Amino acid sequence: MEAVAFNFISFVLFLSFIILIHAQWKNKSKTSGKLPPGPWKLPIIGNLHQLSNSVLPTHRVLGELAKKYGCSQGIMRLQIGEISAVVVSSPAMAKEFLKTHDLAFATKPELVTNKIIFYNCSDIAFCPYGDYWRQMRKICVMELLNGKNVRSFSSIRHDEIHSLLAYVRSTSGHGQLVNFPERMFLLMTSIICKSAFGKVFTGREEFMEQLKEMSELLGSFDFADVFPSWRVLHGLCGGNKNRIIKAHRKVDAIIENIIKEHREKLENGRDESGGDCLIDALIRQMDSGDLRVPISHDNIKAIIIDMFAGGSETSTATTVWAMSEMMKNPRVMAKAQTEVREVFKGKETLDEKDIMEQLPYLKLVVKETLRCHPPFPVFSPRECREESIVNGYTIPLKTKVMINAWAIGRDPEYWKDPDSFIPERFEESSIDFTGNHFQYLPFGAGRRMCPGHAFGFANSMSPLAHLLFHFDWKLPNGVTVDSFDMTEKPGLSVGRNTDLCLIATPHIA
Ligand code: HEM
Repeated sequence: MEAVAFNFISFVLFLSFIILIHAQWKNKSKTSGKLPPGPWKLPIIGNLHQLSNSVLPTHRVLGELAKKYGCSQGIMRLQIGEISAVVVSSPAMAKEFLKTHDLAFATKPELVTNKIIFYNCSDIAFCPYGDYWRQMRKICVMELLNGKNVRSFSSIRHDEIHSLLAYVRSTSGHGQLVNFPERMFLLMTSIICKSAFGKVFTGREEFMEQLKEMSELLGSFDFADVFPSWRVLHGLCGGNKNRIIKAHRKVDAIIENIIKEHREKLENGRDESGGDCLIDALIRQMDSGDLRVPISHDNIKAIIIDMFAGGSETSTATTVWAMSEMMKNPRVMAKAQTEVREVFKGKETLDEKDIMEQLPYLKLVVKETLRCHPPFPVFSPRECREESIVNGYTIPLKTKVMINAWAIGRDPEYWKDPDSFIPERFEESSIDFTGNHFQYLPFGAGRRMCPGHAFGFANSMSPLAHLLFHFDWKLPNGVTVDSFDMTEKPGLSVGRNTDLCLIATPHIA
């Protein structure tokens, strides 16, 4: 019996192999133009073996490959199993994909993981380009992410930052360490919850836990994405899929509850939070039936995850890396601290408008942090909607395009001494993160550019200004500036490999 089963599996594997070789041959014979250059590849797996470096995170592996294989124009072709992919790692090439040919690359592929987490990719970040995406993005900008709203959330930021300061004060005096990533994530999720959902919802801790679990795999390729024609093996090789489904079930139960509470509030005309939030607005619009593309309960759930995930990990990573770089570069820390203490000398509270307008050096520190540590170093893949010629290279239909913003921000042709942390490089420079300077893309560019950039920037600047004003910071005993670990850990956004733990001493002005 066992021998029969074994023979059957061998037969199925052999058959899949033949189908795959045939599919690869067919794909090859379809494109006639000049393809971008790329490293050598193996049959069947293509370049997969070169990508699976267990030590380095993806943006560094892709950066190394592009350098090693002489893809000097900043465009490199990869074969990831059955998938044709292109990696972009120079500012000039990024401009081609994100500006000149933006429309041809404005859609996202429906990857297995994203389909599970985002209710069939009905969020904004992983949603295919089209009317639904345009409509949902517009609603989120109008109800949450525009400049006026972001400024109006300054009182939420103020309250949450003051809770953080009280916590930090409670640790000082007895040498207790402040775990920065932990505290910042708590701060950012509180800000997002109160701004977008009206209050911190029940089950936030569990939600955060599951989000961390899911974020490791978000935007990455599953076996079924890489070998779509190996259908018989999808069930056998779906290890991560089960993990994702389990985490997603828990998240789904929490979001169900959030929507239920908001619906009850709307039906009873009861309002404890002082006005409509994004969820209320989405529920009202769904019920009204006035939307051009009707939306469902699941679509609202997808947007809730998008806002929570997009808004919390990114700003957490930015503040943690900014603080890490300042600890690694005491000169920068001293300059930023002197600035904030002079501007707010004698003041009890720091006005947010003044933080944004009167701390030019801290702003440079955050900008340089976003260059050296863009929270999304490689943007989630886009998909080519029509065969295109980019700089003389043919990009076939369905090719996946990955923009390596990390490599672009370190391109030595555009950046002097690119591996050093020098905030002053942005002084007297017009380079900004508005998506018009293709050597600096922390928030992306073009149609799919981050709609939360103003919110993310304010959420990063404000806590940093307060923490530098009220406290002096020291590395834990035994850790020196030279031995301080700055390695990265991959995830939805790239954070530190080891937690940033620091000792705070209150500063008396
Ligand atoms: C420092 C903070 C942030 C950084 C560095 C950041 C960065 C990015 C990047 C690089 C992209 C992808 C661009 C592309 O694929 O071309 C993106 C997309 C997105 N971000 Fe952000 N982001 C931040 C904060 C936020 C916040 C606060 C929110 C909302 C609460 C948000 C919501 C989104 C959404 C919905 C998208 C998808 C846009 C689309 O596909 O149309 N982000 N972000």
